[in-house]
Amino acid sequence: MSETAGAANKPKPNPNAPTEETVLSVKHYTDKLFKFRITRPMSFRFRSGEFVMIGLPTQAGKPILRAYSVASPAWDEELEFFSIKVPDGPLTSRLQKIEPGDSVLLARKPTGTLVLDALTPGRRLWLFSTGTGFAPFASLIRDPDTYAKYDQVIVTHTCREEAELAYGFETVAAARADPLVGEEASAQLVHFASCTREDDYPLKGRITDLIENGGLFAALDCPALNPETDRAMICGSMAMIEDTKALLEARGFEEGSNAAPSDFVIEKAFAG
Ligand code: A2P
Repeated sequence: MSETAGAANKPKPNPNAPTEETVLSVKHYTDKLFKFRITRPMSFRFRSGEFVMIGLPTQAGKPILRAYSVASPAWDEELEFFSIKVPDGPLTSRLQKIEPGDSVLLARKPTGTLVLDALTPGRRLWLFSTGTGFAPFASLIRDPDTYAKYDQVIVTHTCREEAELAYGFETVAAARADPLVGEEASAQLVHFASCTREDDYPLKGRITDLIENGGLFAALDCPALNPETDRAMICGSMAMIEDTKALLEARGFEEGSNAAPSDFVIEKAFAG
């Protein structure tokens, strides 16, 4: 058999197969939360706030991939992810053990609704998150477009315990110190963090309760939610999304999408 004939018999590489990327750094926050950064292929383009399927190479069989919000902004040369650790989760039980130099699979096509394009113009942008739902907002608060489109950006993060808020604080500080968006973030970004199961934390309560009882607006000394001026994104557990969405709809907000931009958009924080 000639060399050419041999090459013709070889299976063609699948152009849609995930690419294998290298882990650059890993940081653990609690026994349930960690972040990691990987190499970004030149061909990988996304809009801040989108998610992509991530997995680990396997010796045999199909790799397990899970949806992860990209937590770094669209301009960053690396990709950052913020992940939960589920002890018997099919992916995160293994993913939590990655170290710099290891390989991670990255799907080629990012997608998602937590993007600026899915909202109509407004003055204030609310980013409501719980737990790892902060991840897409970690991307958006480091994107200059967010500050170009809104006068004020308010990101809320609610977790059970104080230690779980650390990634949010770190990312907000990074945005404010960033050479590209630092000036805008310092002037326009507001961070509200609350705990639900920590007696000593000054800001307590679920975001839904704080919207309903006005505690959120009192703490920030700002006007309550108003569809005339405000736009919103929601990312957390299914229950948190449903409850926050109902509060927004009761106040006259309409849900938008990529195809039909409107007042607010939702996406569940993925785990497993
Ligand atoms: P709580 O401690 O009162 O359950 P989880 O880890 O269960 O996803 O929760 C993360 C955070 O989201 C917790 O602070 C939790 O509060 C809060 N939370 C859970 N369910 C809801 C909901 N339906 N609406 C608003 N916040 C919620």
